[in-house]
Amino acid sequence: MSKNTEQFDAWIRSDFVAMNTELEEEYYAQNNRSVVEGVGDDTKQQILNEGRAYIIDLVAEGNTDEGFENAFDLLGNLGLYMASLRRHELTNPAREEKSPHQEASALGMHIATSLGVTPRFATSHLATHNYAKHGVQKSFTSLKDEFLFLNYNTRGILSFKRAADALNRILPLGVSHPASHMLLNDAADALRAVKNYNEKLFSELDTDRFFFCVRPYYKPYRVGRHEYRGANAGDFSGINEIDLLLGLCRANDPYYSQLLVDKMLFIMPDDQLSLRDCMSKRPILDQLLDSKTEAKEPWFKKNANAFLEVCALHGEVAAQHHDQLVEKFITGPSVSLDEEHLSQVTASGPPLPVLLKALEALRDLRLAAEDSDIKTSAAEIAELRKLIA
Ligand code: HEM
Repeated sequence: MSKNTEQFDAWIRSDFVAMNTELEEEYYAQNNRSVVEGVGDDTKQQILNEGRAYIIDLVAEGNTDEGFENAFDLLGNLGLYMASLRRHELTNPAREEKSPHQEASALGMHIATSLGVTPRFATSHLATHNYAKHGVQKSFTSLKDEFLFLNYNTRGILSFKRAADALNRILPLGVSHPASHMLLNDAADALRAVKNYNEKLFSELDTDRFFFCVRPYYKPYRVGRHEYRGANAGDFSGINEIDLLLGLCRANDPYYSQLLVDKMLFIMPDDQLSLRDCMSKRPILDQLLDSKTEAKEPWFKKNANAFLEVCALHGEVAAQHHDQLVEKFITGPSVSLDEEHLSQVTASGPPLPVLLKALEALRDLRLAAEDSDIKTSAAEIAELRKLIA
């Protein structure tokens, strides 16, 4: 790590966190907690100027050839800084045609293009690739609820990845292999872990603190001329690998393939590869139905039952995300917002009802719901169930 990179990292882990926390406390103490403009202006300027000074040195150094890990980490630090400027309204894509933060944009575009990812901070910077020092990982603030959110997100993501890994290992064995039963059970265990972490998040996270002090750092912002949607806990390939390998979502479905295209550059390059790989594999659901003439064989009953259990859990977790987490922490508190602040709520940018509809579609696909507006795998799952009844 170069000296400039190291100094910027030290600032991101210390003064930057302290200043964001101070501002959050000021906003939160107001009657209208959504008001940002005109509050804590000196501190905002201090974040802007101190960060900019580090960035000017980094741009001048021009050295992104430090190996993937370091360059990706630097992009994350830069992204945290830009997301904080967005949060404190020192930039707002709705009123600008290009980012007013030219040096930061130049550095972001330089690093991101060389890595093959978006030039903004992504979920992995704060979750799976958030390197802790002396027991503390990176964050925007030192608020308890931000750490709760980050830590349960990270555990949930790692558990989803564990489920995806188990399912991927079935491919070279085939669905009738005795060891595939163990792998299906491993995937089910991992999804039970996701469910458990989601339950903890649901009960322990404070709704107002999350809504007013954590979520605003996940808004879209511009880098150069382009606006990039906000990060969300879904920006890793594991969840889509599970969707595709189970056969609950299809890469040739126009709705779902659009989602994959939009997501690709928000995930890490090795995730991009494994996602592409899964897109060309025959789903386990189809493999089982291909073998329906063996439905009375013990292997079929055993593995199909284990498979259906994994599907049921994947659906339950998706329903939990939409009906509990999104409902309690986003939809609920949005009700009391005025029009101006409501338009800025979602991380991906579209208006809340549009976003909710999209999340509902994903929930239905994963649930293989029978009564959905969209085409799900309900009929195929019902056929499989009947075969082993
Ligand atoms: C306070 C808790 C959470 C809330 C309020 C929340 C809310 C949201 C929202 C609103 C989106 C849509 C993207 C956007 O904001 O524009 C989203 C996407 C997503 N979130 Fe969460 N989320 C939470 C926690 C989690 C956790 C713990 C996970 C899993 C580890 C997760 C997984 C996903 C996934 C996979 C997506 C992408 C869409 C999909 O494939 O389902 N979320 N989340």
